[in-house]
Amino acid sequence: MSSSTPPPPGGLFRTKTVEQSIQDTEEPEHALRKSLSAWDLTVFGVGVIIGTGIFVLTGKVAKENAGPATALAFVAAGIVCALAALCYAEFASTVPVAGSAYTFAYASIGELPAWIIGWDLVLEFALGTAVVAVGWSGYVRSLMDNVGWHLPTALEGPDVPGGSFDILAFVLVLVLTVILVLGMKLSAQFTALVVAIKVTVVMIVIVAGLFFVVGDNYQPFIPDPVTPETGGAWETAPLVQLMFGYEPTNFGVMGIFTAASIVFFAFIGFDVVATAAEETKLPQRDMPRGILGSLLICTVLYVAVSLVVTGMQHYTELSVTAPLADAFKASGHPFYAGVISFGAAIGLTTVCMILLLGQTRVFFAMSRDGLLPRFFAITHPKFRTPYRPTILLGVVIAVIAGFTSINELATLVNIGTLFAFVVVALGVLVLRRTRPDLPRAFRTPWVPLLPLLSIAASLWLMLNLPGETWLRFGVWMVLGVIVYFAYGRSHSRLGRALSGRETR
Ligand code: ALA
Repeated sequence: MSSSTPPPPGGLFRTKTVEQSIQDTEEPEHALRKSLSAWDLTVFGVGVIIGTGIFVLTGKVAKENAGPATALAFVAAGIVCALAALCYAEFASTVPVAGSAYTFAYASIGELPAWIIGWDLVLEFALGTAVVAVGWSGYVRSLMDNVGWHLPTALEGPDVPGGSFDILAFVLVLVLTVILVLGMKLSAQFTALVVAIKVTVVMIVIVAGLFFVVGDNYQPFIPDPVTPETGGAWETAPLVQLMFGYEPTNFGVMGIFTAASIVFFAFIGFDVVATAAEETKLPQRDMPRGILGSLLICTVLYVAVSLVVTGMQHYTELSVTAPLADAFKASGHPFYAGVISFGAAIGLTTVCMILLLGQTRVFFAMSRDGLLPRFFAITHPKFRTPYRPTILLGVVIAVIAGFTSINELATLVNIGTLFAFVVVALGVLVLRRTRPDLPRAFRTPWVPLLPLLSIAASLWLMLNLPGETWLRFGVWMVLGVIVYFAYGRSHSRLGRALSGRETR
């Protein structure tokens, strides 16, 4: 912090008014184009929600944590998300500006909590984009193998023995960055086509797979608990099991919750819909429809897919890399397997793109508020997109995707997202008290009970994540607080306005 610019007044809990948040979006050089409808938002939601979670993690958790009860894990994670979605929908329809939970927190709880949540969302979206890009790369390589094309091993990525740089994931993120710089509408059209392909593939898994289900595979539906081979080392054991000092296990009833904390990744994305509020034509009406609609569709599909797949193949036999396609191969239907792999590769493209979009919008909103350099808050004169943060973050994420293994990143994304849910639910409670007068197109039912349940449910899933994930998350958040005190606090546009140093 420079000595010539002491921290502006207002304190760590100074809030931007909701009116100010909306007014900022109306300044021409900082304005995003309002072009999205409820349908666009639902397509966006389904486009980003169905991805690596259902296509890859289903097999992993069925085999390692929950067996056929993976379907129950999806129900548990879906309930946590539905509670959070009801809170998100109230906030998104009350504060219709870019930035999602960050903006909502700024308008309700205060600047420091808003900064913390924005910093947290950067982690969620950036690493989420990288995870999905690497998953996409795996499916594309598998399709290339089918036709006899092979990349040099070194370019297959760090998850492959002998590989070091994932060229496909790297290129995918860069191409999507260019598409986003060119404009939101183009992205929405592109997304709609790909979402149609992805949903068709998921329906094929459910309908065709139903014919190959063998009842015996559901025995036992909830396998007995077993102690993991690592013996429950603190890095890998769920925090809740360490806290209460009992021997960490997989499977059993607790295994369902461990599985839920992992397959939670499959639901990430409905919150991204809220980040596009500022680009929505009628946010008060369309935002809740978009968020709740896409979440409901995906929950139904996930439960159906996990029931079918664990019914087609015994959970101990499931593949952990391409479980949906491999279950069809195991039942002697390689044609379906090829179609599913192809659809998965196409579908993961949109997931990656929308996570990247959410990421740049949060960064844009934080820059517009002066908490990050204002250089990033100027939109493109022709395309009206926040091209500067899009390009910067696109390149950084491409490099992360190229060099990083996906396994541990997914749990880090989950803990960050669940933390954001906690803050959003708190925000609903605070805003109801501090600004009861604001028009709310969508009101969360049963306040304060429902937001309190949402907080408890999100914390419960967080506690089911490994100790190591908590440590990494803690380090990232401490870093964020340091950046805030070194830069954001003294450059805050709100703080400067309060001290009269900036004319608006
Ligand atoms: N929900 C998204 C996925 O599963 C992030 O890939």
